[in-house]
Amino acid sequence: MNLSATHDSLRFENPFVLASGPPTAARELIERGFAAGWAGAVTKTIRPDSMPMEDVSPRFYALRDGQGDVFGFENIELVSRRSTAYWMETIAGLKRGHPGKILIASIMGDSGRESWADLARRCEAAGADALELNFSCPHGMPERGVGAAIGQDAGITGRIAGWVRGATRLPVIVKLTPNVTDVRPIALAAIEAGANALAAINTVQCLAGVDLETLSPCPPVNGQSAFGGYSGAAIKPIGLRVVAQAAAATKAPIHGLGGIRTWKDAVEYMAVGATVVQVCTEVMIRGFGLVRGMVEGLAGYLKRKSLASPSDLTGAALGRLVSHEALSREYRAIPEMVAPAACRLCGRCAAACRDGGYHALRLENRSVSCDAAKCDGCSLCARVCPSGALAMRAVII
Ligand SMILES: Cc1cc2nc3c(=O)[nH]c(=O)nc-3n(C[C@H](O)[C@H](O)[C@H](O)COP(=O)(O)O)c2cc1C
Repeated sequence: MNLSATHDSLRFENPFVLASGPPTAARELIERGFAAGWAGAVTKTIRPDSMPMEDVSPRFYALRDGQGDVFGFENIELVSRRSTAYWMETIAGLKRGHPGKILIASIMGDSGRESWADLARRCEAAGADALELNFSCPHGMPERGVGAAIGQDAGITGRIAGWVRGATRLPVIVKLTPNVTDVRPIALAAIEAGANALAAINTVQCLAGVDLETLSPCPPVNGQSAFGGYSGAAIKPIGLRVVAQAAAATKAPIHGLGGIRTWKDAVEYMAVGATVVQVCTEVMIRGFGLVRGMVEGLAGYLKRKSLASPSDLTGAALGRLVSHEALSREYRAIPEMVAPAACRLCGRCAAACRDGGYHALRLENRSVSCDAAKCDGCSLCARVCPSGALAMRAVII
């Protein structure tokens, strides 16, 4: 099946792209990513040599579920420490060796026009296929007036996107921050200034934990820490919301990212407006090979749904996103025991309904019963059921 995806002059062999971050921090990493099957890569953000960059240790922190899998990830890492000379040589070498792959240079200048224009021109001359403007790193960089400090202000976003537009003929992608009250005016400012596309989201500003013994915030750097960027599965709901809002506001092509672990997450991003998707944290956790399952899973899904290409998915769910006011009050759903054999009689549904719901569910005589007269159809019982025994069934009233 043809999984290719296109926007502007960029043709991706499939819609899976490595996001800017540790897996794209060096030439040999990007090469291994390409060999594994990723259609493209966004370099770790390149900054001017005049901008000092020194990382701290440790700089990561993970939140895990009951199985030990990471569902939320904090980092306080900065942009690339490598020189611009390294990156220009790397871009040229990667394009020579992999002409069919899409190589996007992520750049971050300082607060002056020439610094952005110079990086843009040099990446274009080196052979990059597109530029991604990092207006969105939430830690370290905003203190210097760049990163999310740019993407939190529509005026500055438009001004700098315009500077880059004036310096290059390459497609320009503006990477948005979710750390704003309303992303729509910022997305619009980027597109009106001449950006071709958007990428959303960068990490969500966070404080992922505090060590109970030392009372140091985490990750602890000699007993201290700083607010960081949250990524991984936990941020997908925020990413989907931002992509849907940006898609509706601008109609621009979007690179969707934030918490993508499987092809299913990718399909969700496409359904709310993404043309391609990017992945960072899951690659850090599981390695480049996960793209194979993504390609197979997406191909199988498109076939099952009789869709010809990923572009048929782009924005397919957007028409169903309405105002809360417009949602039906005639529609109701009630809980139903769909898999009685799976029920562990744990009682979570009954406890939740008793103390967080309407006291409609009871666990009696080793079975769960629902008093339909009391049930309000809120769905709390089915949402807390750990085994999938309970589900919601539609009823029209
Ligand atoms: C350790 C780490 C370093 C990152 N460095 C960059 C960076 O240099 N430039 C950038 O635009 N985004 C950077 N990101 C953000 C990711 O590209 C991505 O936007 C974010 O992590 C959400 O996607 P994910 O949940 O797939 O990781 C970084 C993320 C992580 C976890």
